[in-house]
Amino acid sequence: MKFLSLSALLLLSGISFTKAQPVNKLNYVIKADSIKAHVQPTMYGIFFEDINMAADGGVYAELVKNRSFEFNDNLMGWAKQKKNGGNGTVTVVDRAKERPENPHYITLAVNTNSGYFGLSNEGFRGMGIKADETYNFSVFAHQHDITNPVKLAIELHDSTGVVIGRASLNPVGKEWKRYHVSFKATATTLKAQLYLWCSHKGSIDLDMVSLFPQHTWKNRPGGLRADLVQKLYDLHPGFLRFPGGCIVEGRDLANRYQWKKTIGDVDKRENIINRWNVEFKHRLTPDYYQTFGLGFMEYFMLAEDIGASPLPILNCGMACQYNTGQLVPLNQIDPYIQDALDLIEFANGSADTKWGRLRISLGHPKPFNLKLMGVGNEQWGEQYIERWKVFEKAIKQKYPYMQLVSSAGPDPSGPKFDYLNATLRGFNADILDEHYYRNPEWFLKNVKRYDDYDRKGSKIFAGEYAAQSGDIGSPKNKNNWECAMSEAAFMTGLERNADVVIMASYAPLLAKVDAWQWTPDLIWFDNLTSYGTPNYYVQQLYSVNKGTDVVPITLGGQAVTGQQGQFASAVLDKKTNELVIKVINTSKDKSTASFDITGVNGFKSEGLLTTLQSDDLDIQNSISKPEAIKPVTRNMKVSGKELSLELKPYSFNILRLKMAN
Ligand code: AHR
Repeated sequence: MKFLSLSALLLLSGISFTKAQPVNKLNYVIKADSIKAHVQPTMYGIFFEDINMAADGGVYAELVKNRSFEFNDNLMGWAKQKKNGGNGTVTVVDRAKERPENPHYITLAVNTNSGYFGLSNEGFRGMGIKADETYNFSVFAHQHDITNPVKLAIELHDSTGVVIGRASLNPVGKEWKRYHVSFKATATTLKAQLYLWCSHKGSIDLDMVSLFPQHTWKNRPGGLRADLVQKLYDLHPGFLRFPGGCIVEGRDLANRYQWKKTIGDVDKRENIINRWNVEFKHRLTPDYYQTFGLGFMEYFMLAEDIGASPLPILNCGMACQYNTGQLVPLNQIDPYIQDALDLIEFANGSADTKWGRLRISLGHPKPFNLKLMGVGNEQWGEQYIERWKVFEKAIKQKYPYMQLVSSAGPDPSGPKFDYLNATLRGFNADILDEHYYRNPEWFLKNVKRYDDYDRKGSKIFAGEYAAQSGDIGSPKNKNNWECAMSEAAFMTGLERNADVVIMASYAPLLAKVDAWQWTPDLIWFDNLTSYGTPNYYVQQLYSVNKGTDVVPITLGGQAVTGQQGQFASAVLDKKTNELVIKVINTSKDKSTASFDITGVNGFKSEGLLTTLQSDDLDIQNSISKPEAIKPVTRNMKVSGKELSLELKPYSFNILRLKMAN
C-alpha cells in the first residue's frame, strides 16, 4: 500500500493548507528622554543638476528647442515647411562681434506672394500641450522692409498633423523688438510641434522663438513647470543643491558653469553645450544644450519657494577629472574666487553693494540668506586641496559665517577618499561632501558608517547617493523597491548620527523618460506628467518625519543595524510633541514588533502608521503605473504605552505617536 503525504491527504479531503509564514518576534526598546542629537532643519534636501533634461526640456517650461539658433548645428530641432505654394529660404546670420553672448539669428526670406513658408520646431522630444490651457508665444523680430512686412502665423500640430492651436502676429518695426501673442490649445497631446508660418514676399529676421504655458509654477512668465516643482515642494527639502554635479566642472573649463552668465534677460544668457550631451557613448544626446533659462536667480527663487536653504556649488578652477581635468594655474585663480565672493554679495548684499543692487534690480529686494556654498564638485587630489585652500581663505575672511562644503571625492573609501578626508579634517573643513553610488548590499552593510566618526570634527553632507541595481552608469539600473528599501535602511544610520551628518541628498533628481543619460533618478517625467520612484517616497518619508531630536532605539541592547533584517531609528518631534519611529524590515519574513518605551507618560490614543511595502523587490513605478508602490497611511489605536506592530516583509514603517506629556 502506498502512503500519501499529509498535504496530499489534506488536498484530497478538500482542506486547504497554507504553509505558516515564519514570524520574527522583536522587542524594541526606546528611551524617549535620552536625546542623542539634534536633527538639523537642513537634514534631507535635494540635489539638482541639469542632467537627463532636468532643466531645458524639463523643469524650465520653455517648449521650443534651440530657440535662439545657438546649437552647433544652428537649425537643429527646426525643419523647413511650406504650404499652399509658398516657398523661401532660411539663412543663419552670425553677429558674434556685436552680440557675443547671443551670436546667431535667422533671416527668413519668403519668395512667393501667396502661400506660406516657415519652420517647425520639434520641441524637447515633442511639446506637451494641454487642452484649454493658454500658451504664450514670443519672438524677437526685425522686418527688412516695413512697407512690405512679412506676416507671421503660429500653429500647434499634434503628432498626426491636426492643428490644436493657432494665432497670428504682425511684426512691424525695423528695429529688433519682442512680439507676443497668447492662444488656447484645443487638445491634450504629448508630442506636439510648433509651426511658424511666414507669408507675403519679403524678409524677416527672427531670434528667441519661444513658447511657454501660461500656467507655470506661481504663474511666473517664462517660468518653471508647475507639476515638477510641486513634486520638489512635496519633498519639503531642507536645502537645494544646485547646479550640480559634474555640470559645475564642465568637460573642460570653457564649458564650466559660470553663474554670472545665467542671470538677467534670457536673450543675453550665453548658451553652451550641456556636458551630458556627449558623456555616455551609449546615451548620446546631441540636442542637449544649456540655455540657462533656469539660471542662478531662478535657482535661488526656487529654493525660497520650496522652503529650502540654497546651496550653490561653484567651480574651483578644475574641470571634471573624469574628462579633461583642466586646471586653472593658481596665479590665475582670482576670477574664480571673485565669482564666489560676488555670489555671496548677490545673494545677501544690500542696495549699497554692486551685486546686491543687481539682485534687487532683478526683482528680489529680500536677501536669499545664503549660508552654504560648495567649493568644487567631485574633485580630488592635491590640486584640489591647493585650490580649496585659497577659496577657503578668501571666503572665510570676507564672510566668516559661510559654511563651506568640500569634496571628499567620488568614492566613499579608497585612496582618494582617505587623502581628502584626512587633509580636509586637518584643516578643520566645515562640511565634507561624500558620494556613494553603490549596490543595495553596500547600503545595508554600511548603516554603521558614521557611528565611529569624530563627533567634534568636520560635519558630513551625504551629497550624492543612490543604490545601483547594476554597475554605476549602467543604463540598466532600476529605481526598484530593493534599492529604495536599502536606502531607507541606510538612512537610519544617517539619522542616528545626526550630530555628524547634517545634510543628505539622493542623486540625480530628475530624468526625462525619453532623453536621459543616467539612471537611477528620483523623479521621472515626460512632456505632460511625472512620477515619484519608490526612492522618492523614501526621501519624502524621511524628510517629513525628520523630527527635531534623535533618541535611541535598540534591539537586544544594540542599535538596530541589521539584526534579523531590521533597521530602525527614532526621533522626537518637539514641534508637534510626537515620537516618530522608523523601522525597516528588509527580511522576507514578517515580524511582530513590540516597543518598550521609557521616558514618556503615555500616548494619545491614536497614532499614525505609514508603510511603504511590496513583496516584490523589483517593483517600480512608471508613467503608466505611477503609484504601483506608494506609501499608505492609516490610524493606529494606541493604548497606554503598550505598543505592538506587525511589520510586513520588505517594509518601511513609520509610526507617529502623540505624546501625552
Ligand atoms: O549624479 C550624477 C553625477 O554623479 C554627478 O554629476 C557627479 O557629481 C557624480 O559623479
